[in-house]
Amino acid sequence: MVVGRPSSSSVARVVVLLAAAMLLSPLSPCCCVSAAGGGEARRREKQQQLHPVILIPGAGGNQLEARLTEEYSPSSLACRVWPVVRGRGGWFRLWFDPSVVVAPLTRCFADRMTLFYDSVADDYRNAPGVETRVSDFGSTSTLRYLDPNLKLLTGYMNVLASTLEKAGYEEGFNLFGAPYDFRYGLAGPGHPSRVGSAYLERLRKLVESACAANGGKPAILVAHSLGGLYALQMVARSPPAWRAANVKRLVTLSAPWGGSVQEMLTFASGNTLGVPFVNASLIRDEQRTAESNLWLLPAPRVFGNTTLVVSRHHNRSYSAKNMTQFLRDIGFDEGVEPYRERIRPLVETLPEPGVPVTCLVGTGVDTVESLVYGEGGFEAGPEKVVYGDGDGTVNLDSLVGPINAWSDSPEQVVEVVELPEVSHSGILKDKSALDQILRVIDAINLNATTSASSINRSSQDVLYN
Ligand SMILES: *[C@@H]1O[C@H](CO)[C@@H](O)[C@H](O)[C@H]1NC(C)=O
Ligand SMILES: *[C@@H]1O[C@H](CO)[C@@H](O)[C@H](O)[C@H]1NC(C)=O
Ligand SMILES: *[C@@H]1O[C@H](CO)[C@@H](O)[C@H](O)[C@H]1NC(C)=O
Ligand SMILES: *[C@@H]1O[C@H](CO)[C@@H](O)[C@H](O)[C@H]1NC(C)=O
Ligand SMILES: *[C@@H]1O[C@H](CO)[C@@H](O)[C@H](O)[C@H]1NC(C)=O
Ligand SMILES: *[C@@H]1O[C@H](CO)[C@@H](O)[C@H](O)[C@H]1NC(C)=O
Repeated sequence: MVVGRPSSSSVARVVVLLAAAMLLSPLSPCCCVSAAGGGEARRREKQQQLHPVILIPGAGGNQLEARLTEEYSPSSLACRVWPVVRGRGGWFRLWFDPSVVVAPLTRCFADRMTLFYDSVADDYRNAPGVETRVSDFGSTSTLRYLDPNLKLLTGYMNVLASTLEKAGYEEGFNLFGAPYDFRYGLAGPGHPSRVGSAYLERLRKLVESACAANGGKPAILVAHSLGGLYALQMVARSPPAWRAANVKRLVTLSAPWGGSVQEMLTFASGNTLGVPFVNASLIRDEQRTAESNLWLLPAPRVFGNTTLVVSRHHNRSYSAKNMTQFLRDIGFDEGVEPYRERIRPLVETLPEPGVPVTCLVGTGVDTVESLVYGEGGFEAGPEKVVYGDGDGTVNLDSLVGPINAWSDSPEQVVEVVELPEVSHSGILKDKSALDQILRVIDAINLNATTSASSINRSSQDVLYN
């Protein structure tokens, strides 16, 4: 265990802004592989042997657009006029836009990103006067870069998508993207989730059309972080015959199966995600309203009775079982009911997807394991942060959650591939991680088993098929 300062990465919003990258010259035009002579035909033939891949991003991992209607009441003059340039129909990019670092505009951003829980409807909705949409569904365009004008700084799944392209995948033919409004989540049985459920349906349709376009070959779902939780729910909530026909395998990257302790830090103190000059307390209030962030709080199923947070001001310690008390004590009463009614039943169990699963997880990176707040309470920030094993954002026990959760089901195939020293977002970029992801996908396409060296299987050894 290492004790030190809180890290700034987050499950919630994976934006890595590297100031140093600004100094680099733009990438030189790439060395495209030209298809000479019979190359084109060979390429097509190779593609036809591949299972289609659908990329599912994590929270904050795709662009989100918004427009403002008459109902919108700006909290300042700046918010009334910003952004000055808007597209057709008044749409503009809400996430990610670099203006969030300009203090007066941080507030506009936070107001527009904020969700409201409507206890009568028992569901979440946007702020009044703010419409949002996810454009270009089915394509990887909005998840390669979070801001197409700042490619160097906001690259997200581009490296992974390009790696797949070099291995023979082709956008729109057998490579697809499934972006979504990552602020919303899903809920336990009997509770509506208009936006999240609509996404599951959209994702199902995309999977079906990807299979149909590839000679009926079932798809490989490749999901990062929160995307893994969505993908699991989509498959688990589909009829067995549908799964068998349409999903070859679920491959998850850094999926936080039981949430993460760092999420409690986000709720208590805000998390500026390493973006400079942003008022953490403004961002915190907005982050608290996102239903998906409640979903990512540590789950009792994984964290049990372990003390995760201590507040000397409240003379209390909190385990994952004390989450409603924690939400009250940090001053977020509005979160208590949706957490208790919608989220806790959702995270109580990890449903079996009924399709084979491969979890690639980074390990050996310092990850927040517990937090101590002093007499100053939660507002003052943590006095002490204790680190343990994980990927820098998600704790190891959460990353490998399926091993325990599905251990009683011999027929549920699950493999965990550990990637030492690979971080939560590094898994999408590090050479060693990309090599492993390709190896897993190659093995599926070759209809063969993977080598067992770095792989831990569930009790039953089952080959790929
Ligand atoms: C940040 O925002 C909070 C809440 O809106 C405000 O009280 C605080 O003064 C702001 N801090 C700074 C440094 O501007
Ligand atoms: C957790 O705490 C509850 C209530 O305090 C207790 O009944 C239970 O046995 C504890 N579980 C473990 C694994 O320690
Ligand atoms: C803190 O709580 C413990 C038991 O939970 C109690 O024994 C102790 O007196 C309390 N201290 C203060 C300062 O309230
Ligand atoms: C936390 O939960 C445990 C077990 O449910 C309970 O015994 C304890 O009193 C709770 N602590 C707080 C601070 O709510
Ligand atoms: C994987 O297996 C190795 C060796 O058998 C073991 O040391 C390691 O803890 C296992 N990892 C997980 C995540 O189970
Ligand atoms: C290859 O995949 C097909 C279809 O999923 C399966 O029927 C077959 O048994 C697999 N072959 C091997 C050798 O795994």
